[in-house]
Amino acid sequence: DDEKDLQVRPPVVTIMGHVDHGKTTLLDAIRNTKVTAGEAGGITQHIGAYQITNNGKQITFLDTPGHAAFTTMRARGAQVTDITILVVAADDGVMPQTVEAINHAKAAEVPIIVAVNKMDKEAANPDRVMQELTEHGLVSEAWGGDTIFVNVSAIKGDGIDDLLEMINLVSEVEELKANPNRTAAGTVIEAQLDKGRGSVATLLVQSGTLNVGDPIVVGHTFGRVRAMVNDLGRRVKSVGPSTPVEITGLNDVPQAGDQFMVFADEKKARQIGESRFKKQQDAQRKESSKLNLD
Ligand code: GTP
Ligand code: NA
Ligand code: MG
Repeated sequence: DDEKDLQVRPPVVTIMGHVDHGKTTLLDAIRNTKVTAGEAGGITQHIGAYQITNNGKQITFLDTPGHAAFTTMRARGAQVTDITILVVAADDGVMPQTVEAINHAKAAEVPIIVAVNKMDKEAANPDRVMQELTEHGLVSEAWGGDTIFVNVSAIKGDGIDDLLEMINLVSEVEELKANPNRTAAGTVIEAQLDKGRGSVATLLVQSGTLNVGDPIVVGHTFGRVRAMVNDLGRRVKSVGPSTPVEITGLNDVPQAGDQFMVFADEKKARQIGESRFKKQQDAQRKESSKLNLD
């Protein structure tokens, strides 16, 4: 893309942190929803992808169930995150998955904003969290470092505005841009087989604009975008950069981290899609015959 074709796009923010430190509750507070209440055992099972508008600026959020999904995506070369929100419960402090999250963000060279959560709790100790994070190279601005810390209570909704302001600040510094006026490309966030709708894939559009009817190749799968549903469950006809959207119309189920690409020429999409699909089927057949021999 030419520099002149690039336009400012919303940041894609991934919420990471140890189990039960309040990632989903924090997103609920940001979105004014109650996703947590609908989760089996209060455990996030899949990646939630949402977009909000704050002070006229959009932000895209990804809520991760543990970090396995993130690891898979990175292993497959997918780079979707612009900013990581590291959620640390103020009463619990730094835990193994907190450290894992820090390592992921560092490896991906993504800026980290620390959200010290559960500040409403009697046992909350934000100084201890700061101290512990110092040992992992995250030194708060208050202590002469350059990591932004925001104290929040997801349950009470305290500190949410500050957090959103910091996200806007960091994303301005990052100068995130994309060209919306081209065929769409991006990454699969998650996908599954739905009894009624067939293959359903949540895509993150990273550049270009994705439209219903577009010929598309997604990993080893292909098809035409039959329908698109946004994070509010509404049907949409086209979506631009940094937007998560659920699509149907693929011939098979792609994998998280797969790249997708729209082709202006349907024949070409079909050709590439079919050859990739065949390759994948062959590989699968080989794998299963190997298993039978063993
Ligand atoms: P996983 O997705 O399972 O890793 O958990 P999570 O990080 O998304 O945490 P979740 O939002 O499910 O919250 C875990 C528990 O902490 C729930 O019981 C929440 O009600 C509680 N919780 C979250 N935020 C706060 C907070 O600010 N204050 C208090 N007191 N409890 C909180
Ligand atoms: Na939980
Ligand atoms: Mg969760």
